[in-house]
Parts: sequence; C-alpha cells; structure tokens
Amino acid sequence: METDKPLGKGSFYLTTPIYYVNDAPHIGHSYTTVAADALARYERLKGRDVFFLTGTDEHGQKIYRAAQACNETPETLVNQVVERYKCLWKNLFVSNDDFIRTTEPRHTRRVQKVFQRLCDKGDIYLGEYEGWYCTPCESFWTTGQLIEGKCPECSRTAERLKEVNYFFKLSKYRDKILQHIDRNPEFIQPESRRNELRNRLLAGVDDVSVSRQSLPWGIPVPMDPEHTIYVWIDALLNYITALGYDDEMERFNRYWPADVHLIGKEILWFHGAIWPAVLMALDLPLPKKVFAHGWWTIEGQKISKSLGNAIDPLKITEQYGVDAYRYFILREVPFGMDGNFSYTMLVHRINSDLGNDLGNLLMRSLTMIEKFSDGKIPSPQGTREEDINLTEGAARLETKLDEEMKALQFSQALETVWEFVAQTNKYIEESKPWVLAKKDKQALSTTLYNIAEALRLISIHISPFMPQTSREIFSQLGIPEEDRFQRSERTWGKLKPLTKTKKGKALFPRIEMSAQLA
Ligand code: MSP
Repeated sequence: METDKPLGKGSFYLTTPIYYVNDAPHIGHSYTTVAADALARYERLKGRDVFFLTGTDEHGQKIYRAAQACNETPETLVNQVVERYKCLWKNLFVSNDDFIRTTEPRHTRRVQKVFQRLCDKGDIYLGEYEGWYCTPCESFWTTGQLIEGKCPECSRTAERLKEVNYFFKLSKYRDKILQHIDRNPEFIQPESRRNELRNRLLAGVDDVSVSRQSLPWGIPVPMDPEHTIYVWIDALLNYITALGYDDEMERFNRYWPADVHLIGKEILWFHGAIWPAVLMALDLPLPKKVFAHGWWTIEGQKISKSLGNAIDPLKITEQYGVDAYRYFILREVPFGMDGNFSYTMLVHRINSDLGNDLGNLLMRSLTMIEKFSDGKIPSPQGTREEDINLTEGAARLETKLDEEMKALQFSQALETVWEFVAQTNKYIEESKPWVLAKKDKQALSTTLYNIAEALRLISIHISPFMPQTSREIFSQLGIPEEDRFQRSERTWGKLKPLTKTKKGKALFPRIEMSAQLA
C-alpha cells in the first residue's frame, strides 16, 4: 500500500558559499544559491530530510577596507549588505533552512573553540609569514605563485606582507587528502576540477597562515587576541558551526557530513584542500561532494566592479519574472561550465521554451478541456498505443531526471523535462482531439485526460526549478494544494477525473526583442 510518508532515505545537507558582504549581490552569487535551491527542493520532493544552508562571510580585510572606503564602520556596512542578500533570496524563492552570518555569536564562539582545539592538538603553531596577500581574494600567495606580480586568481595587485602569524599544518594532511580524492571519485566534481586540485596538491603544499596580525575586523585568536583568525578559516567553519558544532550536537549529528558543498570554481582550493585538512584535524568525516561550477560572464565580459557591469538580479526578475530567470540560469549552461549572460538569450529562452513549448501546452490543453468537456477533466476510457507511449515517456522522464539530478546536471534535467513537454505537444498533434470530438468520444476522453495528466506530472517535475509556475499550472488544472506533492501523487493516473479546470492567464506571454532591458 502506498503511503504519503517521506521515503525515509535520511538526511540531505547542502550548502552554498557564504558570500562576502563588501558589495551587493550579482547574478554570479544568485547562480550558486538558485542551483542549491533547486537541488534542495528536488531532494525534499524525494522525501529527504533536507537542511539547506546559506549565509554571509562578514569578517576580514576586504570588508574592513570596503567599510573604510565608504566611511562606515564594518558593522554598519555588513548590516546593510546582508539585508540585500536576504531580500534577494526571498525574491528568488530561495528555501534555505538557515542563514548564518559569521558575525553571530553562535559562530564566533564555536570558531574560537575549534581554533583552540587545533592549537592544543599541535596542528596550529606560531610562526612568521613573509609573502604576498591578495585582499579581494583574501588569499596568501608565494612569489612563485604570482603571475607577473599579480594575484593568480583575480589578476589584481597583491601586497607584500611580513607578520607573525599562526600556521595550520596543512602539509601533514596532504597525503591523506590525495588518498581520499583518489579513493572517492565523487568527492570533487567535475572531473577537470578534481584533476587541477590533485595536481596542485601533488606539486607540494606549505603550511597555511591562519591568522592576521593587527587586523581589527575578525574573530580574535582566543589565546592571543592581538591576532584575528584568518577569514577563510572563520568562513569554512560556518558549515559546521551552523549545525551547532560543538556545543549543540543534535543538528550536527543529524546532518553532518554534508552531502554537497556547491561552490564556484575559484574557491576549490579552500574547499578541496584546506577544509578537508581542518576536518581531518578535528577527526570529522569529510563532505561527500564538493561541486565547483563555472563562472558567468556578462555579454562576454568578466563581472567586475571596475567594469561596472554587475547586474542586480532583482532588475532582471522585475522585468522578466523570477521563474524565467531561474530557468534561464540553470538551463542555459551545463553545471560546471562557464556561461555567458545575455538578454537576447534570456528572451529567446522565455519565448521558445517557456512560452511556446510549456505555456502554449497548458493554454491549448485547457482550452480543449473547456470546449470539449465542459471544463472538467474526463475519465480515461480505454488505452491506445499512443497513450502507452505517453505514459512510458513519463516513466522514463522520472528515471532520467533522478540520474541527472544526482549528477547535479541541472541543465540536462531541464532538457529532459522539456523532451516530455515536446512529447505531450506531439501527442496532441497526433491525437487531434478536435477531430475526435466529432467522431470518437471515448478516445477524446482518454486523450484529454492524458494531456492533463502529463501536465500535472510536468508541474511536479518543474517545481524545484520554477516553484511559482508549478503552482500556477496546478491551480489552472484545478488540483487542490493537498493533492500536489505527496509521494503517492507521483505516478501516472492519479489525476482525479471530474476535476474542474480553471484556465487562467498565459504563463509566459511573448516578449518582443525590442522590449529588452540591455
Ligand atoms: N566568502 C567567500 C566564500 C566562503 S565559503 C566558506 C567568497 N565569497 S564571494 O562573495 O566572493 O562569493 C563567491 C561565490 O559566488 C563563488 O564561489 C560562486 O559561488 C559565486 N560567484 C561569484 N561570482 C560568480 C560568477 N561570475 N559566476 C558564477 N558564480 C560566481 O568567495
């Protein structure tokens, strides 16, 4: 017997990077969070006990200087910018379960405890750092790593630094990390990024500096408060402090290790080398997967403050809608590859995939149900070969989608759903309900039922990506809230005949190219 209880496959913990609050969020930041949200919603749909964490990285030199530059205290700046992030996530329907700020006491006290523990263990020691520092990346570099004197990551000028620092024994853990990477091919994804990380580890690692001397904006080193804890150590620990590590262990025990850390490719070193080493030093299990996605450019150019081309995602969603934006960023580029944002491509996707394929499917289906069945979903009567093809298509869709979502191939997953949208459109063309209406009422009933049933399943499958559109389709089909997402509703044939449809407005009205923002 089917039940509506969750599948009970256990917990699923996923995270985004915590974003720096020196400046407002742009589409790059929204990309990771929207991807994480789609995954969180998908896993919830599967009945998993999901914990989805995002937050903000609020300490360090970069933020301290940004505050100075605008004559604000760091507190004022971070309190302002954090609101922009929170507001954006709300606008984008992001369903995070927690939001951690690194300035919160629950975080700072736990970071200090961890730091102390690593010192006690002998994995953190006092030394002298001489080398380079890139403030925008908050990264230490050796002379050999600089490229033409510039930061190898962001190509900006690095500063010479000579100061007394605490060091973490990264070198002690190098072999163990390499071994873990080799034994767990799923650990670092995609493969090309894993190879890069492996090569960097193989080339040899130094211990890393984990404190800054006389930087007033950070968490003080517990036994030496003249120093502040290096912002990356502070930041990485959010993934466990938010779960309560290590003074409220219930949540931690329920969710750790993380199922996936979603990050951008530029911060893989921190997540694939330093973070695992810290976890090993704490005797904690490593996350199951770190997925480093690619970077967005805008109309072909790197998103940068100096170019002034950063686009506020709210501007895009105001004009084009939240779901269209979510669809576009996840569909346009295979997850893991770099991508280019352009208004032309956005409008193209809206008009073709969303308007022509999906929007028209709903509109014409409901129009036919109104016209030929008095606005009520008929009972299916008999099954023809074309009907079996459609139901098989639905079953294939579910299996394929599962594989693709497991591999975090969001673009592919959406393509798979759209193959089924196309199949349903084709089913209409071939069944010709307008002809059946004149000569075969039984076949007409079956056909109209099947079309509505296909739309119901499409609505379930797009819900992780486009929650609002999914709701709209359900409500136009006349399906009440309680019948939408239970597990038992996911199989073919669960749509109740006689449901009264409520045709509404077009889902994605056509946008003329001339109406573009750019
Ligand atoms: N605070 C650190 C992360 C600490 S995690 C323990 C940080 N913050 S950030 O504000 O710079 O955000 C970086 C993340 O934003 C990237 O890893 C990526 O997820 C996202 N992106 C920022 N710009 C991006 C693009 N242009 N394209 C795609 N994603 C990018 O690093």
